[in-house]
Amino acid sequence: MPVQYEVTKVTATAKADIHGDFDTHFYRGQDEISEEGVLKLSEKYVKKSKFPEFLPTWDPYQKFPPLTFHEYYDPGIRADPEFPNLFKNNEKLSISKITPKFGTELRGVQLTELNNAGRDELALLVAQRGVVVFRDQDFASRGPEYAMRFGEHFGKLHIHQTSGAPEKYPHLHITFRRPDRQEFDRVFRDSHSSIRFHTDVSYELQPPSYTFFSVLEGPEGGGDTLFSDSLEAFNRLSPSLQEYLSQLHVVHSSKEQAENSSRQGGIQRREPVFHIHPLVRVHPVLKKKTLFVNRMFSRKILELKQPESDLLLKFLYDLVENTQDLQLRARWEPGTVTVWDNRRAHHSAVIDWDEPVSRHAFRITPHGERPVEDLKYLNDKTYYPS
Ligand SMILES: [Fe+2]
Repeated sequence: MPVQYEVTKVTATAKADIHGDFDTHFYRGQDEISEEGVLKLSEKYVKKSKFPEFLPTWDPYQKFPPLTFHEYYDPGIRADPEFPNLFKNNEKLSISKITPKFGTELRGVQLTELNNAGRDELALLVAQRGVVVFRDQDFASRGPEYAMRFGEHFGKLHIHQTSGAPEKYPHLHITFRRPDRQEFDRVFRDSHSSIRFHTDVSYELQPPSYTFFSVLEGPEGGGDTLFSDSLEAFNRLSPSLQEYLSQLHVVHSSKEQAENSSRQGGIQRREPVFHIHPLVRVHPVLKKKTLFVNRMFSRKILELKQPESDLLLKFLYDLVENTQDLQLRARWEPGTVTVWDNRRAHHSAVIDWDEPVSRHAFRITPHGERPVEDLKYLNDKTYYPS
């Protein structure tokens, strides 16, 4: 007897997989709804959590207007390039490069002890290295309010359109993998791999810059994060292709992510958006070009016909995702905070454990500048890609 497929379910799964539906969702029927109507994780997960104040909730009454343009001044530009505050008189300091051009690991610097000048220097270091892994941090013990205030130094904080956030702190983005089999089955149901490279929320008018990610709980020796350097990826291209790509613009969409949330019974804090960004953006601190396309949110190169656009985008995605000598792997230890520059570093979660432990993390996500193809347009409200 032939297997009966439920067509809508198959279509939904396929669509979710194309655009990487690996977000932390509320699951209708599995999770719970409070008397106030706020969506919450099942009580069985709340009881087990070591950091309940950081657990995700989804408030369907939180509605926000569309994001509008604001000027952005990068803290890395005002930083002292000698790093006198970040690295001052510190015998415990240990700095090691993860790869020669991309990624640094630091021990002996406590983020919560940095003054404003030190935070500016942190931004400069993250811009220069793409990814910086800070070990032995006391960040998580300070709670959500502290995390939010800390992040505000680096820019106006982003509120995600659909993701879980601690109650009353929509500015924090929570990822939480439930410690049960279903969580893994969802990822591998229609895929051989959990790898989904992307840059966070590239569909926004002003996508994030310096992004802080702190893992609160996770498996031992698993759940790493992969990073790929789109600045080096651009440099590897032939000069004539670099020149051609630098004239192009890409539409990015949040629609599919919003639909994935709705399909699971989740929320939408804002209406979905489409924004056009240059395919090659210029970094305001480094004054260098990076490729700004990703499989999760980029949809079409405006100057090309769809089949041409699909072919060229696929080539660029493959370059960033599969070229291992422009990548690094960040391993998590208790107390690790990883900071990346979302304008340059593409990243992917790695879901490679199956013991029943949760992976719980929070992200602080400051907006950056509106991406520009030329720094003469930086903070130009009238700039619109030609
Ligand atoms: Fe991400």
